[in-house]
Amino acid sequence: MADKIVLAYSGGLDTSAAIVWLKDKFGYDVIAMAADVGQGGDFDAVRERAIKAGAYDAIVVDCRQEYASEYILPALKANALYEGRYPLVSALSRPVIVRHMVEIARSSGAVAVAHGCTGKGNDQVRFEVSTSSLAPELEIVAPVRSWGMTREQCIEYLADRDINFEVTKSSPYSIDDNLWGRAIECGVLEDPWITPPDDVYELTKISATEPTEFVITFSEGVPVEFDGKDMTLVDLISKVGQVVGSYGYGRLDMVENRRVGIKSREVYECPASLALIMAHQDLESITSERDLMHEKMRLEIRYGELVYDGLWFSPLRESLDAFMNESNRRVSGKVRIRCEAPGRTSGGVLGNTSDGTPGPGKVFVAGRQSPYSLYAHELATYGDKDSFRHQDSEGFVKLWGLGLRTWAQRSP
Ligand code: ARG
Repeated sequence: MADKIVLAYSGGLDTSAAIVWLKDKFGYDVIAMAADVGQGGDFDAVRERAIKAGAYDAIVVDCRQEYASEYILPALKANALYEGRYPLVSALSRPVIVRHMVEIARSSGAVAVAHGCTGKGNDQVRFEVSTSSLAPELEIVAPVRSWGMTREQCIEYLADRDINFEVTKSSPYSIDDNLWGRAIECGVLEDPWITPPDDVYELTKISATEPTEFVITFSEGVPVEFDGKDMTLVDLISKVGQVVGSYGYGRLDMVENRRVGIKSREVYECPASLALIMAHQDLESITSERDLMHEKMRLEIRYGELVYDGLWFSPLRESLDAFMNESNRRVSGKVRIRCEAPGRTSGGVLGNTSDGTPGPGKVFVAGRQSPYSLYAHELATYGDKDSFRHQDSEGFVKLWGLGLRTWAQRSP
């Protein structure tokens, strides 16, 4: 009996050729596993392609709920952004995919797993480090990194074996998408000077013309309602993404530092993730005590790096999650988001905002409230309801600056 291997299968050209290659070269029985992480598409067709390419078995796993509640949600509680901007779209989905690959490997008695990543990216790091953290006994094979075939050679390789792989109009970009957003690389984007052409955008095509507002209700850091309606996390993320995306919100264009030492130009569309992180952060601004919030902000940076670097299944991430959960205990309340369509110049051309909001439209927090709000009107007001004891400040400020005053007095 042949050894079994579980391959992370997307239905694309590379991973289809990988099925053939793993069989041909090593004699493996290939179990192709396609993970639904919210990228959309026809999974029946994906399964059929795997079988056509010669897979021993083809399995589609719906990971959406698990991905949302066990991977996206902890990252949201941590406001996780890599290099201050990227909400870790691809980085977060890899560990959930690997978890399922390992489960299938164990239940089917497979000895190895395989992925279709190249040798230049972060995703190979995430796949392999996650696999060895969960199942150190499994071997890992990376066909695309090893075979050195071009796209054309891959098509030929399949054709030589009578597998006629209908290559759909090949996109000039490499795209990875899931519930948390969409990553676009390659093609003209490889020149960091070139403005991303309009055809890279999918989730942030502008269709809205009128302003709108909606309210997100959080309970202990978890977004639970959209405009007062209970929603599962998966539905709520999709809904928020649709609304703010239609204002063109959520676009990022950045040059980021990959784990493997390469700087790469990345374009992202992250309407839901950026809007939810903005709302969550805003609610924390009224519910979190100052020192807690400042310490959390430092740890958030570390959290983002860990996830980016493929260290999801690490004791440090678990320990940081304990901190994030504890610090989110009072992050309950409502955040009102306002969306405004991009302005139009007289020529009918879309205008850009200059206030730093990602994307052409404006999406911003217009109001927030919480039963745990630490915002005390009687302390903050400059009006006649003021209860702040102004005289207490005099001694406080004097002592706060005492060290510097002494320093200045003794200065030559
Ligand atoms: N640069 C991003 C990251 O490392 C996105 C990677 C996207 N992957 C892809 N196959 N296009 O997380």
